[in-house]
Amino acid sequence: MTGEIEIIYQNNLQTENIFTFYCSLFDRVIKWTVTVDGDLRHYTTLDGKAMTMLPFDDRDGFIWHDGEIISWRDAKLHVLSHGLHYGSSVFEGERAYNGKIFKMREHHERLIRSGELLGFKNPYSVAEIDEACKMVMEANNIVDGYLRPVAWRGSEMMAVSAQRSKIHVAIAAWEWPSYFSPEARLEGIRLDFAEWRRPDPATAPVNSKAAGLYMIATLSKHAAEEKGYNDALMLDYRGQIAEATGANVFLIQDGKIHTPTPDCFLDGITRRTVIGLAKEKGYDVIERAIMPEELAHTQEVFLTGTAVEVTPVREIGEYKFTPGEITKDLLLAYDELVRKPS
Ligand SMILES: Cc1ncc(COP(=O)(O)O)c(C=O)c1O
Repeated sequence: MTGEIEIIYQNNLQTENIFTFYCSLFDRVIKWTVTVDGDLRHYTTLDGKAMTMLPFDDRDGFIWHDGEIISWRDAKLHVLSHGLHYGSSVFEGERAYNGKIFKMREHHERLIRSGELLGFKNPYSVAEIDEACKMVMEANNIVDGYLRPVAWRGSEMMAVSAQRSKIHVAIAAWEWPSYFSPEARLEGIRLDFAEWRRPDPATAPVNSKAAGLYMIATLSKHAAEEKGYNDALMLDYRGQIAEATGANVFLIQDGKIHTPTPDCFLDGITRRTVIGLAKEKGYDVIERAIMPEELAHTQEVFLTGTAVEVTPVREIGEYKFTPGEITKDLLLAYDELVRKPS
């Protein structure tokens, strides 16, 4: 198996050339003990799996770009691109399990809607983007993977106004191992409170998966990681609990499931899926405004997102939780749903 990981921090256990690392594969934090090989770009897990940390522009493969499959290394944009200078870019993050993209249609509808919220029309239809994603998976031989469609304004105009700029679309895909044991995940991750807040819907197009909105997410996640946390919990402009930097949040209080109303952050596709699963199982799911002080009487917390799936949380700032039965039930139900043979 080959994968790409980012090392967050290394613990103090170091014997000869064996280190224990805490790694994040996008948003999933996992602990791996590895033997180190050279400059850490390549290393091997103790069970013999070869791992690589090659940068994303230094890989082989194929990327779909404005209607064509091109070589991974040729998928470049000009430095004078509106998307880069002015943040006029939207993207998706999708996963394929057993060769099938989970909720593909919903992701591509959201991609197109995200662009519309930034004032641009995607030149490709939902069906065309569906097909393009399948082509990219096939070209790269992906069975369990991650897909990253992105749409951005091009180089025709280099000013705030970019009415006549061309809209470009690209889709990349790479391998993403399908499974980490529920036991390991049930250990839970640790979040800090972010200093940045999700903006008022009157301040930014908060329902768009727009690249610009991730500026505060990256700042918040970096600050949390520097303190040894896995991620950050963002409050909104009113001081209410909003979401993590790339995932939605759920709280369990006295057997009921509570989650913030998505009025200033993404109503995640995983969030909606998990709410559906919870309701099918007979749980009460309450969407409402939640203040951070309520964490004091919350028993379980978990995150949902395409990348993190259902990830238990064991700590948020000074508050501690024990991942329990409801979290486990939904984690397993989501795992079963996404990995179910088609
Ligand atoms: C900021 C943010 N919130 C929530 C989510 C969860 O959304 P989804 O479940 O559609 O992946 C994501 C992931 O895309 C995200 O980036």
